[in-house]
Amino acid sequence: MGPEDLDLILKDLPIKKDPRVLVGLETSDDAGVYQLSDEVALIQTADFFTPIVDDPYTFGQIAVANALSDVYAMGGKPLTALNLVAFPIKTLSPSILKEILRGGLSKMEEAGVALVGGHTIEDPEVKYGLAVTGVTHPNKILTNAKAQPGDQLVLTKPLGTGIIATALKAGMASEEAVTRIVESMITLNRKASEWMQVFGAHACTDITGFSFIGHALEMAIASQVGMLIESKNTPLFPEALEYAKLGLVTGGGHSNRQFFSCRVDAGTNLSPLLMDVLYDPQTSGGLLISLPSNKAQSLVETLKTQAQVGAWIVGQVVEGPAGKIQMI
Ligand code: CO
Ligand code: CO
Ligand code: CO
Repeated sequence: MGPEDLDLILKDLPIKKDPRVLVGLETSDDAGVYQLSDEVALIQTADFFTPIVDDPYTFGQIAVANALSDVYAMGGKPLTALNLVAFPIKTLSPSILKEILRGGLSKMEEAGVALVGGHTIEDPEVKYGLAVTGVTHPNKILTNAKAQPGDQLVLTKPLGTGIIATALKAGMASEEAVTRIVESMITLNRKASEWMQVFGAHACTDITGFSFIGHALEMAIASQVGMLIESKNTPLFPEALEYAKLGLVTGGGHSNRQFFSCRVDAGTNLSPLLMDVLYDPQTSGGLLISLPSNKAQSLVETLKTQAQVGAWIVGQVVEGPAGKIQMI
């Protein structure tokens, strides 16, 4: 059983159709969307996980940036959040939990999100995240299902957080590498989300556990299009290939490859180490944005100059083969 299998179980549930549900489980989108009125749609999502770094405050920041990201990926504005907490209160000092929650709160404040409650259970393993509620206009929802042939694809964070976090756990990561991924993981996708809408994005998703390839494929499948990915233009953290070479690839990376590679034409001369990074599960990864090709370069430049957000054109959307990725 991998995470993808768990996803399939969810999709098998006999859920009744409800016309007010604008985005449900069918298209593997980032968040659910429910129409409240002609003007307002609710966006709802939840995400929590075990610590990826040692510092509790930083872990809190990462967990919240990650949980809010699904709302940003739908083009929404997050409004309220509930803390989801599991903590071994008998074996760990409560001051650690306090730091996690303080870190989380600092990101919610930055995002203008009100913390309105939550739930804590005792558990042998620390886990933290949020259930988030956001809003958007029903006509402005950005799903992963509207990428159009001719679009270009923009990615807003480098890849390789899973591999570098694995190196960190093994005591093999450089300080610079860890600083870089932490800086990236605590960065909100808010500005990327706001600017992609200004530039008329057609579709969006955020890159998380299913890896760059997995989430790009979800978009290709939902949009019934193909994708050409330019391998030399995919942004990687500098140390990602080096640590992949040391075999520091996560279990999630292996199952992503197993699950998705049948839909990827990787050609013959592509580095297997690069593919390791492209299948690497990301935590609080960037947005993958599909937008008209004449807008892509402007979005990239605007994000860099106006928002201090990195952005790279990583490929383009093509007619077909639908639901497949071709690496060039
Ligand atoms: Co997502
Ligand atoms: Co999510
Ligand atoms: Co409760």
